[in-house]
Amino acid sequence: MSEQAVKTGQSVSELRCIGCCRIALPDRFRCEHCRDLLEIVFPGWDEQGPAGLNAEGLKQLWAERQSSFDPADRSGVWRFREILPEITTQEIITIKEGNTPVYELAHCAKSAGVQQLFAKHQGMNPTGSFKDTGMTVAASFARQAGYRWVACASTGNTSASMAAYAARGGLHSLVLIPEGKISWSKLSQSLDYGAITCQLKTDFDGCVRVLNEVVQKMPVYLLNSVNPYRIEGQKTVAFELLEQFGWEPPDHIIVPGGNLANSSAIGKALREMKQLGFISRLPKISVIQAEGANPLIRTIRETGGEKLVPVQAETMATAIRIGNPASWKKALRVIRESEGTVEQVTEIEIALAKAEIGAEGIGCEPASAVTLAGLKKLVKQGFVKANERVVLILTGHALKDAEFTLKFHRGDLFVGTPFESQSEVLQSQQRTPLVLEPNVDAVIHLLRTAEHGHKKD
Ligand SMILES: Cc1ncc(COP(=O)(O)O)c(C=O)c1O
Ligand SMILES: [Zn+2]
Repeated sequence: MSEQAVKTGQSVSELRCIGCCRIALPDRFRCEHCRDLLEIVFPGWDEQGPAGLNAEGLKQLWAERQSSFDPADRSGVWRFREILPEITTQEIITIKEGNTPVYELAHCAKSAGVQQLFAKHQGMNPTGSFKDTGMTVAASFARQAGYRWVACASTGNTSASMAAYAARGGLHSLVLIPEGKISWSKLSQSLDYGAITCQLKTDFDGCVRVLNEVVQKMPVYLLNSVNPYRIEGQKTVAFELLEQFGWEPPDHIIVPGGNLANSSAIGKALREMKQLGFISRLPKISVIQAEGANPLIRTIRETGGEKLVPVQAETMATAIRIGNPASWKKALRVIRESEGTVEQVTEIEIALAKAEIGAEGIGCEPASAVTLAGLKKLVKQGFVKANERVVLILTGHALKDAEFTLKFHRGDLFVGTPFESQSEVLQSQQRTPLVLEPNVDAVIHLLRTAEHGHKKD
Protein backbone atom coordinates (compact mmCIF):
# COMPACT_ATOMS: atom_id res chain seq x y z
CA MET A 1 0.00 0.00 0.00
CA SER A 2 1.38 3.38 -0.89
CA GLU A 3 -1.18 5.71 0.68
CA GLN A 4 -0.09 7.48 3.86
CA ALA A 5 -3.46 7.28 5.55
CA VAL A 6 -6.64 5.23 5.70
CA LYS A 7 -9.99 7.05 5.62
CA THR A 8 -12.33 6.52 8.53
CA GLY A 9 -15.83 7.91 8.36
CA GLN A 10 -15.29 11.61 7.87
CA SER A 11 -11.91 11.69 9.57
CA VAL A 12 -8.60 10.06 8.74
CA SER A 13 -6.48 7.60 10.70
CA GLU A 14 -2.71 7.44 10.60
CA LEU A 15 -0.14 5.04 11.95
CA ARG A 16 2.19 6.91 14.28
CA CYS A 17 5.31 5.75 16.12
CA ILE A 18 4.86 5.73 19.92
CA GLY A 19 8.54 6.72 20.31
CA CYS A 20 9.52 9.37 17.76
CA CYS A 21 5.95 10.20 16.56
CA ARG A 22 6.85 9.78 12.87
CA ILE A 23 4.00 8.66 10.60
CA ALA A 24 4.37 5.19 9.05
CA LEU A 25 2.79 3.35 6.11
CA PRO A 26 -0.56 1.69 6.99
CA ASP A 27 0.67 -1.93 6.82
CA ARG A 28 3.78 -1.55 9.03
CA PHE A 29 4.25 -2.75 12.62
CA ARG A 30 7.34 -0.92 13.78
CA CYS A 31 8.83 2.49 13.11
CA GLU A 32 11.52 2.35 10.45
CA HIS A 33 13.52 5.02 12.28
CA CYS A 34 13.50 3.94 15.94
CA ARG A 35 11.89 0.42 15.81
CA ASP A 36 9.24 1.37 18.39
CA LEU A 37 5.68 0.13 18.02
CA LEU A 38 3.08 2.02 16.01
CA GLU A 39 -0.38 3.12 17.04
CA ILE A 40 -3.37 4.38 15.13
CA VAL A 41 -4.26 8.03 15.68
CA PHE A 42 -7.13 10.12 14.37
CA PRO A 43 -5.80 13.65 13.72
CA GLY A 44 -9.23 14.90 12.59
CA TRP A 45 -10.67 14.36 16.08
CA ASP A 46 -8.89 17.48 17.30
CA GLU A 47 -11.13 19.68 15.17
CA GLN A 48 -14.33 17.67 15.28
CA GLY A 49 -15.46 14.35 16.71
CA PRO A 50 -15.57 11.11 14.72
CA ALA A 51 -17.98 11.41 11.77
CA GLY A 52 -18.68 14.96 12.94
CA LEU A 53 -20.56 13.69 15.98
CA ASN A 54 -20.03 14.56 19.64
CA ALA A 55 -20.19 12.03 22.47
CA GLU A 56 -23.96 12.38 22.90
CA GLY A 57 -24.57 11.87 19.16
CA LEU A 58 -22.37 8.79 19.11
CA LYS A 59 -24.01 7.26 22.20
CA GLN A 60 -27.39 7.62 20.54
CA LEU A 61 -26.21 6.25 17.19
CA TRP A 62 -24.58 3.21 18.83
CA ALA A 63 -27.67 2.54 20.95
CA GLU A 64 -29.93 2.69 17.86
CA ARG A 65 -27.76 0.17 16.05
CA GLN A 66 -28.57 -2.44 18.70
CA SER A 67 -31.95 -2.97 17.08
CA SER A 68 -30.59 -3.06 13.52
CA PHE A 69 -30.22 -6.19 11.37
CA ASP A 70 -27.19 -4.93 9.47
CA PRO A 71 -24.28 -7.41 10.04
CA ALA A 72 -21.89 -4.59 10.97
CA ASP A 73 -24.40 -3.21 13.51
CA ARG A 74 -24.88 -6.69 14.96
CA SER A 75 -21.16 -6.91 15.74
CA GLY A 76 -20.20 -5.54 19.14
CA VAL A 77 -17.06 -4.19 17.48
CA TRP A 78 -18.32 -2.63 14.24
CA ARG A 79 -21.28 -1.06 16.03
CA PHE A 80 -18.65 1.38 17.31
CA ARG A 81 -17.07 1.86 13.86
CA GLU A 82 -16.75 5.65 14.18
CA ILE A 83 -13.83 5.12 16.56
CA LEU A 84 -12.17 2.48 14.33
CA PRO A 85 -10.06 2.76 11.19
CA GLU A 86 -12.32 2.66 8.15
CA ILE A 87 -12.71 -0.66 6.40
CA THR A 88 -14.87 -0.93 3.30
CA THR A 89 -18.14 -2.64 4.30
CA GLN A 90 -17.66 -5.54 1.84
CA GLU A 91 -14.26 -6.34 3.36
CA ILE A 92 -15.47 -6.60 6.95
CA ILE A 93 -15.04 -10.12 8.32
CA THR A 94 -17.33 -10.51 11.31
CA ILE A 95 -18.56 -13.48 13.36
CA LYS A 96 -20.70 -11.23 15.57
CA GLU A 97 -17.96 -10.65 18.08
CA GLY A 98 -18.25 -8.42 21.14
CA ASN A 99 -21.63 -7.85 22.82
CA THR A 100 -20.27 -9.70 25.83
CA PRO A 101 -22.02 -9.80 29.21
CA VAL A 102 -21.15 -8.10 32.48
CA TYR A 103 -21.80 -10.32 35.50
CA GLU A 104 -21.88 -9.38 39.14
CA LEU A 105 -19.73 -11.72 41.26
CA ALA A 106 -21.20 -11.55 44.76
CA HIS A 107 -19.17 -14.35 46.38
CA CYS A 108 -15.89 -13.31 44.76
CA ALA A 109 -16.54 -9.76 45.97
CA LYS A 110 -16.79 -11.07 49.51
CA SER A 111 -13.69 -13.16 49.18
CA ALA A 112 -11.74 -10.18 47.77
CA GLY A 113 -13.09 -7.74 50.36
CA VAL A 114 -15.10 -5.36 48.17
CA GLN A 115 -18.81 -4.57 48.30
CA GLN A 116 -19.48 -4.92 44.58
CA LEU A 117 -17.51 -6.73 41.92
CA PHE A 118 -18.22 -7.11 38.20
CA ALA A 119 -16.72 -9.27 35.48
CA LYS A 120 -16.78 -8.29 31.82
CA HIS A 121 -16.61 -11.72 30.22
CA GLN A 122 -14.67 -11.54 26.97
CA GLY A 123 -14.57 -15.33 26.94
CA MET A 124 -18.14 -15.11 25.60
CA ASN A 125 -16.81 -14.10 22.17
CA PRO A 126 -17.30 -16.46 19.18
CA THR A 127 -14.00 -18.34 19.59
CA GLY A 128 -14.05 -18.08 23.37
CA SER A 129 -11.60 -15.25 23.99
CA PHE A 130 -11.16 -11.48 23.82
CA LYS A 131 -8.91 -11.91 20.79
CA ASP A 132 -11.92 -11.88 18.46
CA THR A 133 -12.59 -8.18 18.98
CA GLY A 134 -9.16 -7.24 17.63
CA MET A 135 -9.02 -9.97 15.04
CA THR A 136 -12.14 -8.84 13.21
CA VAL A 137 -10.52 -5.46 12.52
CA ALA A 138 -7.01 -6.70 11.68
CA ALA A 139 -8.19 -9.61 9.50
CA SER A 140 -10.56 -7.27 7.65
CA PHE A 141 -7.70 -4.84 7.08
CA ALA A 142 -5.55 -7.72 5.74
CA ARG A 143 -8.24 -8.62 3.24
CA GLN A 144 -8.79 -5.01 2.23
CA ALA A 145 -5.03 -4.56 1.73
CA GLY A 146 -5.03 -7.55 -0.64
CA TYR A 147 -3.18 -10.12 1.48
CA ARG A 148 -3.95 -13.79 0.85
CA TRP A 149 -2.05 -15.14 3.87
CA VAL A 150 -2.15 -14.15 7.53
CA ALA A 151 0.01 -15.55 10.34
CA CYS A 152 0.57 -15.38 14.08
CA ALA A 153 2.66 -16.77 16.91
CA SER A 154 0.39 -17.61 19.78
CA THR A 155 -0.14 -19.01 23.25
CA GLY A 156 -3.36 -20.45 21.79
CA ASN A 157 -6.16 -17.91 21.80
CA THR A 158 -4.80 -15.67 19.06
CA SER A 159 -4.30 -18.68 16.81
CA ALA A 160 -7.84 -19.95 17.43
CA SER A 161 -9.24 -16.53 16.67
CA MET A 162 -7.07 -15.81 13.65
CA ALA A 163 -7.83 -19.21 12.12
CA ALA A 164 -11.57 -18.60 12.45
CA TYR A 165 -11.51 -15.10 10.96
CA ALA A 166 -9.22 -16.19 8.14
CA ALA A 167 -11.58 -19.05 7.33
CA ARG A 168 -14.62 -16.75 7.35
CA GLY A 169 -12.80 -14.23 5.17
CA GLY A 170 -11.39 -16.68 2.62
CA LEU A 171 -7.78 -16.10 3.72
CA HIS A 172 -5.09 -18.73 4.35
CA SER A 173 -3.57 -18.82 7.82
CA LEU A 174 -0.33 -19.98 9.39
CA VAL A 175 -0.05 -20.60 13.13
CA LEU A 176 3.17 -21.00 15.15
CA ILE A 177 2.66 -22.28 18.68
CA PRO A 178 5.07 -23.56 21.35
CA GLU A 179 4.99 -27.36 21.35
CA GLY A 180 3.24 -28.83 24.40
CA LYS A 181 2.72 -25.42 25.99
CA ILE A 182 -0.81 -24.57 24.94
CA SER A 183 -4.10 -26.16 25.87
CA TRP A 184 -5.50 -28.89 23.65
CA SER A 185 -8.77 -27.09 23.08
CA LYS A 186 -7.02 -24.05 21.63
CA LEU A 187 -4.86 -26.23 19.39
CA SER A 188 -7.96 -28.13 18.27
CA GLN A 189 -9.71 -24.88 17.32
CA SER A 190 -6.92 -23.78 15.01
CA LEU A 191 -6.95 -27.20 13.32
CA ASP A 192 -10.72 -27.18 13.00
CA TYR A 193 -10.77 -23.74 11.38
CA GLY A 194 -8.23 -24.88 8.80
CA ALA A 195 -5.00 -23.10 9.74
CA ILE A 196 -1.63 -24.59 8.88
CA THR A 197 -0.64 -25.25 12.47
CA CYS A 198 3.03 -25.68 13.41
CA GLN A 199 4.14 -26.65 16.90
CA LEU A 200 7.66 -25.28 17.30
CA LYS A 201 10.06 -26.79 19.80
CA THR A 202 10.46 -23.49 21.64
CA ASP A 203 8.42 -21.12 23.79
CA PHE A 204 6.07 -18.30 22.69
CA ASP A 205 8.90 -15.78 22.53
CA GLY A 206 10.82 -18.19 20.26
CA CYS A 207 7.77 -18.53 17.98
CA VAL A 208 7.61 -14.73 17.68
CA ARG A 209 11.28 -14.59 16.63
CA VAL A 210 10.76 -17.17 13.88
CA LEU A 211 7.57 -15.55 12.64
CA ASN A 212 9.11 -12.08 12.42
CA GLU A 213 11.63 -13.47 9.94
CA VAL A 214 9.01 -15.39 7.96
CA VAL A 215 6.86 -12.28 7.39
CA GLN A 216 9.88 -10.33 6.18
CA LYS A 217 10.56 -12.95 3.52
CA MET A 218 7.01 -13.85 2.45
CA PRO A 219 3.89 -11.79 1.56
CA VAL A 220 2.18 -12.81 4.80
CA TYR A 221 0.36 -10.32 7.02
CA LEU A 222 1.27 -10.50 10.70
CA LEU A 223 -1.68 -10.75 13.07
CA ASN A 224 0.17 -10.79 16.38
CA SER A 225 -0.82 -8.15 18.87
CA VAL A 226 1.91 -5.75 17.65
CA ASN A 227 -0.59 -5.29 14.83
CA PRO A 228 -2.12 -1.85 15.54
CA TYR A 229 -5.48 -2.77 13.97
CA ARG A 230 -5.95 -5.47 16.60
CA ILE A 231 -5.52 -2.88 19.33
CA GLU A 232 -8.23 -0.76 17.69
CA GLY A 233 -10.73 -3.63 17.75
CA GLN A 234 -9.82 -4.49 21.31
CA LYS A 235 -10.63 -0.91 22.33
CA THR A 236 -14.31 -1.61 21.84
CA VAL A 237 -14.56 -3.70 25.03
CA ALA A 238 -14.08 -0.49 27.01
CA PHE A 239 -16.69 1.41 24.98
CA GLU A 240 -19.13 -1.46 25.42
CA LEU A 241 -18.40 -1.74 29.15
CA LEU A 242 -18.94 1.97 29.73
CA GLU A 243 -22.17 1.81 27.74
CA GLN A 244 -23.30 -1.09 29.98
CA PHE A 245 -22.48 1.09 33.01
CA GLY A 246 -24.53 4.02 31.68
CA TRP A 247 -21.27 5.82 30.80
CA GLU A 248 -20.32 6.09 34.48
CA PRO A 249 -16.73 4.81 34.76
CA PRO A 250 -15.96 2.19 37.42
CA ASP A 251 -13.15 3.00 39.85
CA HIS A 252 -10.91 0.13 38.80
CA ILE A 253 -10.45 -2.10 35.76
CA ILE A 254 -8.23 -5.13 36.33
CA VAL A 255 -6.65 -6.88 33.35
CA PRO A 256 -4.38 -9.93 33.00
CA GLY A 257 -1.00 -9.12 31.45
CA GLY A 258 0.76 -11.28 28.85
CA ASN A 259 2.01 -9.53 25.75
CA LEU A 260 0.30 -6.43 27.24
CA ALA A 261 -1.82 -5.53 24.21
CA ASN A 262 -5.17 -5.83 25.96
CA SER A 263 -4.31 -3.44 28.76
CA SER A 264 -2.86 -1.07 26.13
CA ALA A 265 -6.08 -1.25 24.09
CA ILE A 266 -8.38 -0.67 27.06
CA GLY A 267 -6.25 2.28 28.17
CA LYS A 268 -6.25 3.77 24.66
CA ALA A 269 -10.03 3.47 24.52
CA LEU A 270 -10.49 5.27 27.83
CA ARG A 271 -8.02 7.98 26.84
CA GLU A 272 -10.01 8.52 23.63
CA MET A 273 -13.30 8.48 25.54
CA LYS A 274 -12.00 11.27 27.77
CA GLN A 275 -10.69 13.19 24.76
CA LEU A 276 -14.09 12.91 23.05
CA GLY A 277 -16.07 13.90 26.15
CA PHE A 278 -17.68 10.52 26.97
CA ILE A 279 -16.19 10.49 30.46
CA SER A 280 -14.53 13.07 32.67
CA ARG A 281 -12.25 10.76 34.68
CA LEU A 282 -10.26 7.61 33.96
CA PRO A 283 -10.75 4.40 35.92
CA LYS A 284 -7.50 3.08 37.37
CA ILE A 285 -6.23 0.31 35.09
CA SER A 286 -4.16 -2.35 36.87
CA VAL A 287 -2.32 -5.23 35.25
CA ILE A 288 -1.82 -8.58 36.95
CA GLN A 289 0.81 -11.10 35.87
CA ALA A 290 1.67 -14.61 37.00
CA GLU A 291 4.70 -14.64 39.30
CA GLY A 292 6.54 -16.92 36.86
CA ALA A 293 5.83 -14.64 33.89
CA ASN A 294 6.27 -11.20 35.40
CA PRO A 295 8.41 -9.07 33.05
CA LEU A 296 6.27 -5.95 33.51
CA ILE A 297 6.48 -6.09 37.29
CA ARG A 298 10.25 -6.59 37.15
CA THR A 299 10.59 -3.81 34.58
CA ILE A 300 8.83 -1.37 36.88
CA ARG A 301 10.41 -2.52 40.13
CA GLU A 302 13.96 -2.97 38.84
CA THR A 303 14.32 -0.19 36.25
CA GLY A 304 11.52 2.24 37.13
CA GLY A 305 9.98 1.36 33.76
CA GLU A 306 13.06 2.48 31.80
CA LYS A 307 14.06 -0.80 30.22
CA LEU A 308 12.23 -4.08 29.67
CA VAL A 309 13.44 -6.94 31.88
CA PRO A 310 12.62 -10.08 29.85
CA VAL A 311 12.15 -13.32 31.81
CA GLN A 312 12.09 -17.04 31.05
CA ALA A 313 8.34 -17.40 31.51
CA GLU A 314 6.80 -20.34 33.37
CA THR A 315 3.18 -20.62 34.49
CA MET A 316 0.27 -23.05 34.20
CA ALA A 317 -1.77 -20.09 32.97
CA THR A 318 -0.36 -20.81 29.52
CA ALA A 319 -2.12 -17.90 27.79
CA ILE A 320 0.11 -15.45 29.68
CA ARG A 321 3.30 -17.51 29.58
CA ILE A 322 5.13 -14.63 27.91
CA GLY A 323 8.54 -13.36 28.98
CA ASN A 324 9.24 -10.64 26.43
CA PRO A 325 6.03 -8.63 26.01
CA ALA A 326 5.88 -6.54 22.85
CA SER A 327 3.47 -3.86 24.11
CA TRP A 328 5.16 -3.12 27.45
CA LYS A 329 5.70 0.58 26.74
CA LYS A 330 2.08 1.10 25.73
CA ALA A 331 0.84 -0.72 28.85
CA LEU A 332 3.17 1.24 31.10
CA ARG A 333 1.81 4.49 29.71
CA VAL A 334 -1.74 3.33 30.43
CA ILE A 335 -0.94 2.32 34.01
CA ARG A 336 0.77 5.65 34.69
CA GLU A 337 -1.84 7.79 32.97
CA SER A 338 -4.71 6.10 34.79
CA GLU A 339 -2.82 5.87 38.11
CA GLY A 340 -3.26 2.10 38.13
CA THR A 341 -0.72 -0.42 39.36
CA VAL A 342 0.80 -3.84 38.69
CA GLU A 343 0.80 -6.97 40.83
CA GLN A 344 1.87 -10.58 40.54
CA VAL A 345 0.16 -13.71 41.80
CA THR A 346 1.29 -17.26 42.52
CA GLU A 347 0.15 -20.44 40.78
CA ILE A 348 -1.83 -21.42 43.88
CA GLU A 349 -3.53 -18.02 44.02
CA ILE A 350 -4.48 -18.32 40.34
CA ALA A 351 -5.95 -21.80 40.81
CA LEU A 352 -7.96 -20.73 43.85
CA ALA A 353 -9.32 -17.61 42.15
CA LYS A 354 -10.27 -19.61 39.05
CA ALA A 355 -12.23 -22.08 41.19
CA GLU A 356 -14.01 -19.23 43.00
CA ILE A 357 -15.11 -17.67 39.69
CA GLY A 358 -16.22 -21.11 38.49
CA ALA A 359 -18.19 -21.71 41.69
CA GLU A 360 -20.31 -18.64 40.87
CA GLY A 361 -21.44 -20.34 37.64
CA ILE A 362 -19.35 -18.07 35.45
CA GLY A 363 -15.98 -19.77 34.95
CA CYS A 364 -12.96 -18.63 33.00
CA GLU A 365 -9.57 -19.88 31.93
CA PRO A 366 -6.60 -19.68 34.31
CA ALA A 367 -5.06 -16.56 32.74
CA SER A 368 -8.30 -14.63 33.36
CA ALA A 369 -8.39 -15.65 37.01
CA VAL A 370 -5.21 -13.68 37.79
CA THR A 371 -7.52 -10.66 37.92
CA LEU A 372 -9.39 -11.88 41.00
CA ALA A 373 -6.20 -13.16 42.61
CA GLY A 374 -4.59 -9.77 41.99
CA LEU A 375 -7.63 -7.86 43.27
CA LYS A 376 -7.39 -9.67 46.61
CA LYS A 377 -3.84 -8.39 46.98
CA LEU A 378 -4.73 -4.85 45.90
CA VAL A 379 -7.51 -4.73 48.49
CA LYS A 380 -5.15 -5.95 51.23
CA GLN A 381 -2.66 -3.26 50.22
CA GLY A 382 -5.40 -0.60 50.42
CA PHE A 383 -4.97 0.30 46.75
CA VAL A 384 -8.57 -0.80 46.10
CA LYS A 385 -11.07 0.38 48.71
CA ALA A 386 -13.98 -1.79 49.83
CA ASN A 387 -16.60 0.67 48.54
CA GLU A 388 -15.05 1.15 45.08
CA ARG A 389 -16.56 -0.32 41.91
CA VAL A 390 -14.25 -2.86 40.33
CA VAL A 391 -14.44 -4.62 36.97
CA LEU A 392 -12.38 -7.70 36.20
CA ILE A 393 -11.73 -8.38 32.52
CA LEU A 394 -12.18 -12.14 32.06
CA THR A 395 -10.34 -12.86 28.84
CA GLY A 396 -11.05 -16.51 28.09
CA HIS A 397 -13.84 -19.08 28.46
CA ALA A 398 -13.69 -21.86 31.08
CA LEU A 399 -13.70 -24.54 28.34
CA LYS A 400 -10.46 -23.17 26.89
CA ASP A 401 -8.51 -25.23 29.41
CA ALA A 402 -10.69 -28.04 30.73
CA GLU A 403 -7.60 -30.11 31.57
CA PHE A 404 -6.49 -27.53 34.14
CA THR A 405 -9.96 -27.55 35.72
CA LEU A 406 -10.17 -31.34 35.86
CA LYS A 407 -6.73 -31.68 37.39
CA PHE A 408 -7.63 -29.01 39.93
CA HIS A 409 -10.77 -30.80 41.09
CA ARG A 410 -9.10 -34.19 41.12
CA GLY A 411 -6.34 -32.70 43.27
CA ASP A 412 -3.61 -33.52 40.71
CA LEU A 413 -2.77 -30.03 39.51
CA PHE A 414 0.23 -29.39 41.71
CA VAL A 415 1.37 -32.96 42.37
CA GLY A 416 5.12 -33.19 41.75
CA THR A 417 5.49 -29.41 41.40
CA PRO A 418 7.27 -27.00 43.76
CA PHE A 419 3.79 -25.77 44.85
CA GLU A 420 2.55 -29.14 46.13
CA SER A 421 3.15 -28.34 49.78
CA GLN A 422 1.05 -25.15 49.55
CA SER A 423 -1.86 -26.73 47.73
CA GLU A 424 -3.84 -27.66 50.87
CA VAL A 425 -5.61 -24.27 50.77
CA LEU A 426 -7.33 -25.41 47.57
CA GLN A 427 -9.16 -28.33 49.17
CA SER A 428 -12.26 -26.33 50.12
CA GLN A 429 -12.81 -25.54 46.43
CA GLN A 430 -12.12 -29.03 45.08
CA ARG A 431 -15.05 -31.13 43.93
CA THR A 432 -13.85 -34.60 43.04
CA PRO A 433 -15.88 -36.41 40.37
CA LEU A 434 -17.67 -39.32 42.04
CA VAL A 435 -17.95 -42.84 40.70
CA LEU A 436 -20.90 -44.90 41.98
CA GLU A 437 -22.65 -48.14 41.23
CA PRO A 438 -25.95 -47.54 39.34
CA ASN A 439 -27.82 -47.77 42.61
CA VAL A 440 -30.69 -45.45 43.63
CA ASP A 441 -30.00 -45.73 47.36
CA ALA A 442 -26.37 -44.82 46.91
CA VAL A 443 -27.35 -41.67 44.98
CA ILE A 444 -30.00 -40.72 47.57
CA HIS A 445 -27.54 -41.25 50.39
CA LEU A 446 -25.15 -38.93 48.62
CA LEU A 447 -27.85 -36.29 48.13
CA ARG A 448 -28.78 -36.42 51.83
CA THR A 449 -25.16 -36.05 52.88
CA ALA A 450 -24.73 -33.11 50.53
CA GLU A 451 -27.96 -31.47 51.76
CA HIS A 452 -26.79 -31.85 55.36
CA GLY A 453 -23.45 -30.25 54.41
CA HIS A 454 -25.21 -27.29 52.75
CA LYS A 455 -27.44 -26.69 55.80
CA LYS A 456 -24.32 -26.23 57.85
CA ASP A 457 -22.98 -23.55 55.41
C1 LIG B 1 -6.96 -15.73 27.97
C2 LIG B 1 -5.91 -14.69 27.86
N1 LIG B 1 -5.80 -13.80 28.85
C3 LIG B 1 -4.88 -12.83 28.80
C4 LIG B 1 -3.99 -12.73 27.76
C5 LIG B 1 -2.99 -11.64 27.79
O1 LIG B 1 -3.33 -10.61 26.92
P1 LIG B 1 -2.22 -9.65 26.37
O2 LIG B 1 -1.23 -10.56 25.66
O3 LIG B 1 -2.90 -8.74 25.46
O4 LIG B 1 -1.60 -9.02 27.57
C6 LIG B 1 -4.03 -13.64 26.72
C7 LIG B 1 -3.07 -13.55 25.62
O5 LIG B 1 -2.81 -14.46 24.91
C8 LIG B 1 -5.04 -14.64 26.76
O6 LIG B 1 -5.17 -15.53 25.78
ZN1 LIG C 1 9.95 6.01 15.73
